[in-house]
Amino acid sequence: MLHALYTASAPGKIILMGEHAVVYGRPAMAVPVHQVQATATLTVQDGASDLWIAATDLGQRTALSSAPPVNPLAQAVRLTLTFLQRAAPAGELSVHSTIPLAGGMGSGAAVSTAIGRALAAWAGQTIPAADLSALVYEVERLHHGTPSGIDNTVIAYGQPVWFVKGQPPQPFAIPHTFWLVIASTGIASPTRETVGDVRQSWLADPLRFEGLFDDIAGLVNAGRAAMLAGDWPRLGALFFQNQRLLAEMGVSAPILDRLVDAARLAGAFGAKLSGGGRGGNVIALVEPSAAETVADALRRAGAAAIFITPVSAGAARAALL
Ligand code: MEV
Repeated sequence: MLHALYTASAPGKIILMGEHAVVYGRPAMAVPVHQVQATATLTVQDGASDLWIAATDLGQRTALSSAPPVNPLAQAVRLTLTFLQRAAPAGELSVHSTIPLAGGMGSGAAVSTAIGRALAAWAGQTIPAADLSALVYEVERLHHGTPSGIDNTVIAYGQPVWFVKGQPPQPFAIPHTFWLVIASTGIASPTRETVGDVRQSWLADPLRFEGLFDDIAGLVNAGRAAMLAGDWPRLGALFFQNQRLLAEMGVSAPILDRLVDAARLAGAFGAKLSGGGRGGNVIALVEPSAAETVADALRRAGAAAIFITPVSAGAARAALL
């Protein structure tokens, strides 16, 4: 018999500047993207024998009692229940996401965050953002190796954040709205792999990579100042420079280079890959009046999907085009 329904969601995210270097203690900036969401729905059922976890997009259904510890959905459930000090309810927890999978927009962290919130709603509790973020980080570590923690932070807080690993995140207000065109390559690129490759390169040539990370940190600091001043040509130029350093680190790809060039030629202030790289997304900073032109150019250059997103005080919201 149906007993009760609890639904919760969490947004995707975009890293503005500082990916990869952030794993090595340098600062990064990221914003939530609310137009893509992960949703978790808990249906508590009398008489059910287990908690079934259904990943509807993947066509997978697993019983919590027999799910292995490497199952990230089951792990999100277990860690949340431990936090809430509750035994598992019986019924079904179904998870659905519109965030591109392994596309650099935080799909895994958003699914875990939504699961945490749905279970908290069932328990009649609210999990503070810092605790939810820490819990999601534990799940991220299963598949991610050495995540910096920026993805779980921006998603669990649901606000733009200035992030330095090991320090409390600083949510920040964006005084002047700016516009991004997000171009998805449609190519899934697991962050674990790009982060692992950068680690190998860093181990092989630590001096060079520490230098690259320092240079990126300089750009991120300058980017924050440009963003606070509303100086979009400057912020755009910093995006291009950040992209060049990411390419030097080996995490760009021909399709990403092509999209960045297309954005430049179409009049974007700046463009760069966002997230782990190799696949995933390019973000282009644009004048709102140039957004459509840049979006068309990105489409012609091979983008699989485009979002045009204003980034404003609380969040990034927009329509999927
Ligand atoms: C992934 O969204 C961002 C990376 O910097 C990895 C991390 O911070 O854990 C590439």
